[in-house]
Amino acid sequence: MNQRAKRLKDTIESESENFREQVQADHWRLHYHVMPPTGWLNDPNGVCQFRGLYHLFYQYSPIDANGALKYWGHKTSKDMVHFEDQDIALYPDQPYDIDGVYSGSAFIENDQLHFFYTGNVRHKGDHNYITSGREQNTIHVTSPDGFTLNKQGVVIGADQYPERFTQHIRDPKIFKKDNHYYMILGGRNLEDQGEVLLYKSTDLKSWSYQGIFVEHQANMGYMWECPDFFELNGQEVLLISPQGMDPLENQFHNVYQSGYFIGNTDWEQQTFKPSEPFVELDCGFDFYAPQTFEDESGRRILWGWMGLPDIEPEYSNPTIKHGWQHAMTLPRELIFEKGKLLQRPLIEYEKLRKELSEMNIHVDGKTEVNELQGEVYEMFLTFHEIGEIFTVQLRKDMTISYHKEDQLLTLSLGASGYGRKERKTTIENLTNLHIFSDASSLELFVNDGEKVFTTRTYPTPKKGSDIICFGGSAKINVKKWSLQKTS
Ligand code: FRU
Repeated sequence: MNQRAKRLKDTIESESENFREQVQADHWRLHYHVMPPTGWLNDPNGVCQFRGLYHLFYQYSPIDANGALKYWGHKTSKDMVHFEDQDIALYPDQPYDIDGVYSGSAFIENDQLHFFYTGNVRHKGDHNYITSGREQNTIHVTSPDGFTLNKQGVVIGADQYPERFTQHIRDPKIFKKDNHYYMILGGRNLEDQGEVLLYKSTDLKSWSYQGIFVEHQANMGYMWECPDFFELNGQEVLLISPQGMDPLENQFHNVYQSGYFIGNTDWEQQTFKPSEPFVELDCGFDFYAPQTFEDESGRRILWGWMGLPDIEPEYSNPTIKHGWQHAMTLPRELIFEKGKLLQRPLIEYEKLRKELSEMNIHVDGKTEVNELQGEVYEMFLTFHEIGEIFTVQLRKDMTISYHKEDQLLTLSLGASGYGRKERKTTIENLTNLHIFSDASSLELFVNDGEKVFTTRTYPTPKKGSDIICFGGSAKINVKKWSLQKTS
């Protein structure tokens, strides 16, 4: 650890001490989601399973709930449910990353762990459009064990990026194909369009630019962050987080988007061509910058940041007053089936289930069931019959409603949404809803993962924040479990 890292570490330790208790005492702390111990969290980084242990690194600003200088925070888990805090893994302590250890990913080869990330450097007073007052370097890190991370230095310097790009090039992700290593990076070109760049290597140390892996598209924004690429059940999938898209019907209503293309790569041309339009990954208010990895059992697991940058003044997170902000979504398993990308909560989370309440209910108008209430729980609704309208109200003023004729599923929030109001999506035939409610979040998986809505919600505890009330008409089976706390 160099002098600057030591100084930063000391400052973090003494300053976070001052508000750690206040953070822990916040009633909006989540019970079974990954959160920053103090301060701010954003993108999942370096997600992997190495020698059996799961690692989650993340964009972390430990003493500023509004996110200032970025570090890599670190948590580990044996089971993907219970996470242990580890020491900060990467400090912004080198000339090439002095203003932030930005996002990146892990790559395991021959039982060796590598990371690649973006080192952010700001040039004060430089308002040049191309550089945007910054440098973004691509840096290689090795690690013998997943705990000690050794920076190997810059592999692609800010001055080596192709001329048609601004300095907004970041968030490396690595994959292997036919004995070559490939790196994709998200970028903003000089015409203000998002694109994915491709680099190639034979040794993970020296990288050569190959060209544009995915070209810009109409209404796909000015910058593509956090690219990811993998094959699932024979289908190539490319994830990106575009900034600057216009809303299209019920999609793309957040400030920035995250979604995927399915398509095919022409390996001679080294380009990926989408075969269908871009699809939003999550229909809710709080989801961005997802990253995936394949675990040792071969599952493709996705984690998203349960948050977004630049959301104010549209909506906000009142946890800032308590010294922290943001969390990760539940990890989701990705499945490609019958031409559809499905997202399902990891099966491991079943072990948090405590008492089960199960019942069949004939909903006909407002139906409140005494045994069904709670704040922190999992609930599975199976629809046997559904009328013109079905609603379920929970967490005080949040309503999920389905309108059969319009085939619209709507999530709406009242005052506890702190500005979050309404999101909708089309569901042809609603068969089930799988709800994960935590102290200040809700994840709603629809029809076995065909769609997901993720949102933060901040009901004041006790005043009706535990009601579950059905409305409209339906015949449903309800299973509800209260859940154990993991932190
Ligand atoms: C996405 C992002 C990345 C960047 C990081 C900085 O949320 O903007 O592009 O590397 O966050 O924290």
